[in-house]
Amino acid sequence: MSLRSRGRDFPLIFELSVPERVGSSYPSPDVPLRPLDELIPARQLREEAAALPEVSEPDVVRHYTRLSHRNFSIDEGFYPLGSCTMKYNPKVHEDVAGLPGFARLHPYAPVEHAQGALQLIWELEHLLAEIGGMDRVTVHPAAGAHGELTGLLMIRAYFHARGEARTKVIVPDSAHGTNPATASMAGYQVVTVKSDARGNLDVDALRAVMDRSVAAIMLTNPNTLGLFEERIQDVERIIHGGGGQMYLDGANLNAVLGVARAGDQGFDVMHMNLHKTFTTPHGGGGPGACAVGVKAHLAPFLPVPTVERVGERFVLDYDRRQSIGKLRAFYGNFGNLVRAYAYIRTMGADGLRQVAESAVLNANYLLALLRGAFDLPYDRICKHEFVLSGLRQKQQSGVTTKDMAKRLLDYGFHAPTIYFPLIVEEAIMIEPTETESKRTMDEFADAMLAIAREAQDRSEVVKTAPHTTPVQRLDEVRAARHPDLRWSPR
Ligand SMILES: Cc1ncc(COP(=O)(O)O)c(C=O)c1O
Repeated sequence: MSLRSRGRDFPLIFELSVPERVGSSYPSPDVPLRPLDELIPARQLREEAAALPEVSEPDVVRHYTRLSHRNFSIDEGFYPLGSCTMKYNPKVHEDVAGLPGFARLHPYAPVEHAQGALQLIWELEHLLAEIGGMDRVTVHPAAGAHGELTGLLMIRAYFHARGEARTKVIVPDSAHGTNPATASMAGYQVVTVKSDARGNLDVDALRAVMDRSVAAIMLTNPNTLGLFEERIQDVERIIHGGGGQMYLDGANLNAVLGVARAGDQGFDVMHMNLHKTFTTPHGGGGPGACAVGVKAHLAPFLPVPTVERVGERFVLDYDRRQSIGKLRAFYGNFGNLVRAYAYIRTMGADGLRQVAESAVLNANYLLALLRGAFDLPYDRICKHEFVLSGLRQKQQSGVTTKDMAKRLLDYGFHAPTIYFPLIVEEAIMIEPTETESKRTMDEFADAMLAIAREAQDRSEVVKTAPHTTPVQRLDEVRAARHPDLRWSPR
């Protein structure tokens, strides 16, 4: 296996600058030019020229092309980032989302001029309602976490309308961090329930905390261990028995598409990360899109405006007395809605089911290749992802999960998610997704096994990795909290 260099260092574009070099030059205009201070008020004119780099066109093209090669993307390689579903996004979606009728439509265009876009939103909402077993769907939220807030605000409005003052939301200890954060933002006290030895929510512990002060449970299924909640029916009975609402964090929907529906399992609300399950380039803060589905009793609380069909026309309905209100500007990240719609239409019902089957098959195949070399805290057939532990390597040679993740970069792979879920020590969370081939998974498994051997035989090479990237180990906290992104001429 060859170690791959991700490119040598190169200068900043400012360092390429040569005084008076230009990217392009044009003949002088043959019409008289008005002086600048006639066009722009003098007080708004800068006194000195901006310190911009003076470079040629090839300098610019090469510089930015080289920079773009420093990004790791799903178009470049395998991206097994557990919980994030970094699957390949078909390029046809880009063509569809770029159609001028969609891309150039002003978000405030009158509804008469936006009938096609409104029809797409309406149809997408109905397709997603069918997929989730829900009665209504909104596609306003910008991402999964925003969808969670939307769902909990609707639950809060529902109890308020019934005159019930419920104060708590139950969240399993395996939950994604956004779940407790959302519950707290929506004004609820978070009650954590532990997982049992099989990786399910501990039903006895749930029973012990359930009472009429609980508004909802936020459950992820398959959960963040990649395991199907085997006692989902018991959970439903306990929560509904106490008058609470069932909220599904549907971020892992690609594992059960076309196979199981949240609505049939008794969930009242669910969110679906369109940018994961329904393919949109995401990560690195890129745009997301989220759909939130609800059962009929929560539909009056949907955010405004809703898209309604009146005969052959589509309209925006703002006149909804019990609505939680407007979530954001406009009606959702429309470009991503177009991509999700194109994906569902091109896959069809059988194709969507195949997505889930392939996601689960791929994860179990990869797990079978790796299980001998790493600890496996929850030894079950997994769904779309699985969680290993690097505890053995840490105890034997002091090599941490983080070291191994860094070493993977030398082998040309994006690292898996690490140290999440929090209930697994030295967690390594791997999600191959349904779009990867057997060959890619074999190559990845070879790299992981090679690293496990290195951890045993020459641990220093792992502890000091990565060796082939433009930068080695960064102070990640400082990089996140105090990013230094500006070049200053002085
Ligand atoms: C299980 C789970 N829930 C919620 C979220 C939040 O989604 P988003 O990142 O779109 O806000 C994620 C994101 O990774 C997730 O994996």
